[in-house]
Amino acid sequence: MGKKIICLNKGKLSEFKLHSIWLRERLNGSEFVDQNNLQRLYEPSLLDDNLLINTYSVDANILNVEFSDGAKGSFNIDNLYNEIKNIDVIPEKKIWDVNNHNLEIFDNNKIFDNSNELIKMLKVFYKYGYVIIKNTKAEENEVINFAEKLGPVRSTNFGKLFNVVSKPNPNDLAYTTLELTSHSDNPYRKPVPGIQLLHCIANESTGGDSSLVDGFSIANFLSYNQPEFYKVLTNTNVTFRFTDIDTILVDEAKLIELDHNNNFRQIRFSGRLEYAPLLDEKKLDLFYNARKYMFKLCNSDEFKIKFRLSKGMIAMFDNLRLLHGRTKFNPSTGFRHLQGCYIDHDVTEGKLRRLLNPN
Ligand code: OGA
Ligand code: ZN
Repeated sequence: MGKKIICLNKGKLSEFKLHSIWLRERLNGSEFVDQNNLQRLYEPSLLDDNLLINTYSVDANILNVEFSDGAKGSFNIDNLYNEIKNIDVIPEKKIWDVNNHNLEIFDNNKIFDNSNELIKMLKVFYKYGYVIIKNTKAEENEVINFAEKLGPVRSTNFGKLFNVVSKPNPNDLAYTTLELTSHSDNPYRKPVPGIQLLHCIANESTGGDSSLVDGFSIANFLSYNQPEFYKVLTNTNVTFRFTDIDTILVDEAKLIELDHNNNFRQIRFSGRLEYAPLLDEKKLDLFYNARKYMFKLCNSDEFKIKFRLSKGMIAMFDNLRLLHGRTKFNPSTGFRHLQGCYIDHDVTEGKLRRLLNPN
């Protein structure tokens, strides 16, 4: 008589009750899944509800199973364990501030000739939320060439790439010589672009220095040190708005967005673009105090890592986690030209998973 549930008596999986359909759905032989794309060739919803495991055996790291519908196959025990325990190849995020962190710089001449170096770069990107790349060509469109080695670029109403130069009648204050305090880009978009790349073609003006801040580190600090502020910043929906001659983009969101487990999901912070709702006086006073406090942290020497992008360098950062900024610059002292583009997290995450699991 077969069993619906099996328990292995030793090894990594011995703490789990393995269900017949759960295992059956994971058979990956050519009669079950297409060997090119690993997609199922049958409807798992149509499996027999009373499916049983007729026989099973463990041979080192392999579990062999025969099911009551005649299907059989084997499973790698480590893979099942990692799946059950949610053990992922994407590194965990490590929050940082300037006291415990040095700037992470990679060499463009190494990362694409060597998959180990690219893996290292992508892992650092996931840990700290950014990487700096040096030795790219200081030429127009190089940011797209670089990004497309990772995957597709996300176009927006700014185009496939945007030019950060000071220009008359700009549709964004980035295209002026003004200081940009720590901010995230495009919080008004649905969805917000996941990753930003900024490539330096020329940075010969005085000023125009760059900075990055770990927004999750700020959120963490607020949660421990200013719980009232943290509560209001994680609960108040504010409006973000972009307006130009072609379009008006609007979204509502919290400055600090949490997921269902109360982990940090996303930071949106851009004083240029943000409007609080008309709450009652006490609530608004509290929100404005909280926002001011967050602004001060985001622009403090404690949290802001400062550096200068020189020509040929790219800053690639998680726009859902980090904030970025620049000091004002004086165009009469030299030319400054950056080009930027956005990519989605699918691109870097998918690339890293593929590199870590080669065919
Ligand atoms: C931007 C921006 C920074 C810079 O274009 O979004 O923040 O260094 N630019 O000019
Ligand atoms: Zn920006």
